[in-house]
Amino acid sequence: MTTDDLLARHRAVLPSWMPLYYSEPIELVSGAGRRVTDAQGRSYLDFFGGVLTNMVGYDIPEIREAVERQLATGIVHTSTLYLIRQQVELAEKIARLSGIPDARVFFTNSGTEANEAALLVATNHRRSHQILAVRNSYHGRSYAAMGVTGNRSWTASALNPLQVAWLHSGERLRGLLSRLPESDRIDAAVEDLREVLATQTAGDVACLIAEPIQGVGGFVAPPDGLFAAWKKVLDEHGILLISDEVQTGWGRTGEHFWGYEAHGVTPDLLTFAKGVGNGFALAGVVGRADVLESVPAISFSTFGGNPVSTAAGNAVLDYLLNHDLQANAARTGAILADGLRTAVGGLGCVAEVRGKGLMLGVEFVRPATMEPDPVLATRVFEACRAGGLLAGKGGLHGNVLRMGPPLTLTEEEAREGLAILVDAIRSCASAEVAA
Ligand SMILES: Cc1ncc(COP(=O)(O)O)c(C=O)c1O
Repeated sequence: MTTDDLLARHRAVLPSWMPLYYSEPIELVSGAGRRVTDAQGRSYLDFFGGVLTNMVGYDIPEIREAVERQLATGIVHTSTLYLIRQQVELAEKIARLSGIPDARVFFTNSGTEANEAALLVATNHRRSHQILAVRNSYHGRSYAAMGVTGNRSWTASALNPLQVAWLHSGERLRGLLSRLPESDRIDAAVEDLREVLATQTAGDVACLIAEPIQGVGGFVAPPDGLFAAWKKVLDEHGILLISDEVQTGWGRTGEHFWGYEAHGVTPDLLTFAKGVGNGFALAGVVGRADVLESVPAISFSTFGGNPVSTAAGNAVLDYLLNHDLQANAARTGAILADGLRTAVGGLGCVAEVRGKGLMLGVEFVRPATMEPDPVLATRVFEACRAGGLLAGKGGLHGNVLRMGPPLTLTEEEAREGLAILVDAIRSCASAEVAA
């Protein structure tokens, strides 16, 4: 069976709105550490980890063995109608790690459902369906999660159970606030929040949901401290803060365990997904007990936090903490960020090399302008693949190359990937200038 056959069969039976990466799509058939192999036997260093989800890497013995131990009990699933030891243990760990006092945890299967649950408890707690969300955000694909998503490409329906008012993100490069100097952007974003509350809401807003670093949005972030400045205003009205840590959690940013910590504030609710299962379907919401208890009916997820996924989650978190992967993300991320800034940061087509830890983006523009260049981003992306490196793409305009490697990345692998990235960017940039 060739990948070509599989591609034709894929196209015949799966919907076209579920995109495939690359002009010649790849089937990955095996993996170990930070490397994967495709059906043609080509090997790649993986800097995207299935969208920041293979957080510890491929085929990690400690995680495989924990899952095998659970499988060997014969219990894959029981439903949450019965006590699940792995689930309780994982909830205890996450409650402790969350930084939220007296926390409760509800497990789901995806980031979408985690945000849906956070929005459910926030709207019930506040008896309001008015929500503040941030431009250029992504929170998932259900009606409510899509309803708080500020990105046209990911908004497949305008149907929305929520009343949403939109805030400026405060990012450095794009949007109205980007015209202001860094030192004024927090004040301007707070002014925007006050104005939005006064002009677009009935005052009794349920919550603000925000990503500390916008993932799908292209790894853009507001100045550190904005969440705390926002929270001061939110507290005046009793409005809750939800930090969507689906991409930024578990030490990926290197400097902190959670993205929210860069802002000097603790959210009322935090949502997590992706990396915690290292590929097993595991996600959830953790929050203050009085908020999380605000569900006036039975709410039940058949698979949420099932014995296999929570066995994986416990093994992932133990591995992460025992090996201090946060520190590794800081160390290897710095090699990548410094190397990229030095080698390609000065090119006219590179608007910015940005990010924290192992969450790094390169934004491409038409030389010496701010006009997005998604064509160049795609060329670089394909050139990386040809060079043996898997990366991601994103940004509102599709012009950002995104890197989110497993947090176990070694310094040697960081240098190897850096060399491929620099080669790809330089050769595509000079081909564009020559054309
Ligand atoms: C920040 C953020 N929130 C929520 C989601 C939705 O997660 P899922 O695809 O698991 O539903 C994503 C997925 O990319 C995300 O990046």
